[in-house]
Amino acid sequence: MNYCVVGLQWGDEGKGKVVDILAADSDIVVRFNGGANAGHTVVIGDERFALHLMPSGAIRAETRCVIGNGVAVDPEVLTGEIDGLAEKNISVDGRFFISENAHVVLDYHKQEDRLREEALGKAKLGTTIRGIGPCYGDKVGRSYAVRMADFRDLDALKQKLKKIVDYKNKIFSALYDAEPINADQIFAKCTEYADRLGPFLANTTRLLHESIGAGKNILFEGAQGALLDLDHGTFPFVTSSNASALGMAAGCGVPAALVNKFIGVVKAYTTRVGAGPFPSEQDNQTGQYIRDKGNEYGTTTGRPRRCGWFDAVAAAYSARVGGINEIAMMHLDTLAGLGELKVCRAYRIDGTETTFFPSDVAQLQKAECIYETTAGWDQDLSDITDFGQLPKSVRDYVALVEDIINVPISIVGVGPKRSQAIFRK
Ligand code: GDP
Ligand code: IMO
Ligand code: MG
Repeated sequence: MNYCVVGLQWGDEGKGKVVDILAADSDIVVRFNGGANAGHTVVIGDERFALHLMPSGAIRAETRCVIGNGVAVDPEVLTGEIDGLAEKNISVDGRFFISENAHVVLDYHKQEDRLREEALGKAKLGTTIRGIGPCYGDKVGRSYAVRMADFRDLDALKQKLKKIVDYKNKIFSALYDAEPINADQIFAKCTEYADRLGPFLANTTRLLHESIGAGKNILFEGAQGALLDLDHGTFPFVTSSNASALGMAAGCGVPAALVNKFIGVVKAYTTRVGAGPFPSEQDNQTGQYIRDKGNEYGTTTGRPRRCGWFDAVAAAYSARVGGINEIAMMHLDTLAGLGELKVCRAYRIDGTETTFFPSDVAQLQKAECIYETTAGWDQDLSDITDFGQLPKSVRDYVALVEDIINVPISIVGVGPKRSQAIFRK
């Protein structure tokens, strides 16, 4: 069976945990979009892993890991991650493959990201400053892009970098009055990256198709979430890749028709990092309660996450766009003790009620949530292992969301650990 796990909100839904659990029955785990802007947390016992580029399957020593062509690879982060795993006695040698066609994030991308955000001032997007927008921008622009395969011919890369750095310096100087960057320094780093990452380069499209042909189980791991999708999210407050399930095929060369199940991950509430509309946001005590109890601080940047009620209009939209078959709802434990709970079941925009997520961000800015109110719970759920043992109000909450979204919720989370996920029979 081939499964694909994606976020249905604005990221950080708990994808890392779900992927780690499902990886137990997978031969290969594949990342297909985003870059080191992602932060996927896996907690096993007392040990916590925060992965940015390495697929969450890496923690299981027998699982093969692939970084697909759709990923923006920051070699500095990736080599650091390989070293970090090695320190924990986890080796990826011989079981890790990076697409030759994946684009490379270099220092000037991160610099450009930062300069652009600073120049925007209050209008900034609130990016992670991981160079994601500038790297994908170069990919689309083609003429000044570096791909992983370029590490194979260092003489050619040296010449290419001269041209790129010359171009970037003109922009940095003209637009931002910034210090020039040095092509030789960047090239020196690239020779190290080539040395470290060269052995992992592969034609990953071929590898995946041959593996599928041999009956292997593949797990596709999305980064970010559908509402951050470049085309289908809340543009311009999005990331620069297709973070919905729709990005999976283009991001690794495997058609969606070969995926048996698309699993959408949500939290039992909603969070968002960075700027942009968030209709169900609770910038008040409720939001603070969720932030404290759910430890809602970014895995990548440490920023406090904006928190709010579960937005079923948004999640239903993401599920529909992504062809989601089942939902995993994390963090039910976090809602304990909050009193009555609210679920946004429709928006009112300019006096008209709608249950379809608007495609124009200006419309979304005006959306007021229409809530369904339901009983909360005070019980600690963290040790419960059977769905039937959950308090009735928890099961009713899950049923309410299921009813609005019209997709079955097959997994629920009651804590951060690998063991704290309940599969519904
Ligand atoms: P991802 O980006 O989707 O992989 O999610 P992150 O790792 O950025 O953020 C999710 C956070 O929630 C992490 O700290 C997880 O350890 C934690 N987490 C995941 N599932 C649960 C859950 O069911 N309950 C609680 N309390 N924490 C969870
Ligand atoms: P995971 O995979 C949450 C957000 C940033 C910002 C916007 C654009 O852990 O769910 P970018 O650096 O991509 O140009 O920033 O997207 N963002 C995320 N928010 N989780 C993520 O990844 C995110 N990756 C990017 O906060 O609002
Ligand atoms: Mg995250």
